[in-house]
Amino acid sequence: MVEAARKFAGDGAGGSDFAQAPVVVRGLAKNYGAVTAVDHISFTIEAGTTVALLGGNGAGKTTTIAMLLGLIEPSAGEVRVFGADMSRNRYDVAQRINFQSPYVDLPARLTVKENLTVYAGLYGIANAGERIASVAEHLQIDMLLDRPTGKLSAGQKTRVGLAKALLNAPELLLLDEPTASLDPDTADWIRRKLKDYARERNATLLIASHNMAEVERLADRVILLQAGRIVEDETPRALIENYGRETLEDVFLDVVRGRTAQKLAAEPDRKAS
Ligand SMILES: Nc1ncnc2c1ncn2[C@@H]1O[C@H](COP(=O)(O)OP(=O)(O)OP(=O)(O)O)[C@@H](O)[C@H]1O
Ligand SMILES: [Mg+2]
Repeated sequence: MVEAARKFAGDGAGGSDFAQAPVVVRGLAKNYGAVTAVDHISFTIEAGTTVALLGGNGAGKTTTIAMLLGLIEPSAGEVRVFGADMSRNRYDVAQRINFQSPYVDLPARLTVKENLTVYAGLYGIANAGERIASVAEHLQIDMLLDRPTGKLSAGQKTRVGLAKALLNAPELLLLDEPTASLDPDTADWIRRKLKDYARERNATLLIASHNMAEVERLADRVILLQAGRIVEDETPRALIENYGRETLEDVFLDVVRGRTAQKLAAEPDRKAS
């Protein structure tokens, strides 16, 4: 019945199942003058799934995330987050989502605790002191709370950024290269925290990443962008199988070098490359 209703409505976004999905993107595009950063992409993310957004440098990942957050205005198309149109009603759902990027610095002169207190206020969190203490303990930043945020190391800043992102216990968490510039041990620790968070809260995660091992470990599904377009939308396992490769990294290299699964199937000896 639901499927029939969805077909009747003419597209996925119209079906009752999808109306409140964490993310529904339809025909989304962004141009900067002559540069097409995102070129009419459509996808839906269902609750409780972790989706990796992959693509080479400049493929459009950060621009897509910024549009999902309602931070930049799309040139075309629409973004719905939990049913809210992000160009018009983003404040309706702001408390249900959060974001982390190591490329966005928190005010440097404020201490970690001051920064977290400001964000707790923005998110209207009751018992902010308790919540900050609990998140700080969870992410092992309690000993950093009185330090100026600008003086922390990259790994410490990442943990603080993640604390900020988890303050409001978001149902949808958008992460732009969450483990960039971290040592392997810290990166692994952050991945475990993210995985635990997603599982414990049934949260939905969208993670832009260049780390294929990370993606294989965390993602239920991969959306691969190239020049602003979606060129693959599959589970990591299906991608590896379709391309006849051993790892997602090999698949990624095939895609960015313009070798599709169909082309590879036609090659007599693909192990040679
Ligand atoms: N504010 C802007 N003004 C002009 N061009 C922009 C702007 N933001 C992004 N672009 C361009 O849009 C394209 C997509 O950029 P985006 O940052 O989304 O890529 P990305 O996939 O996140 O890349 P990376 O892996 O390097 O982070 C690039 O060509 C970039 O130069
Ligand atoms: Mg980026």
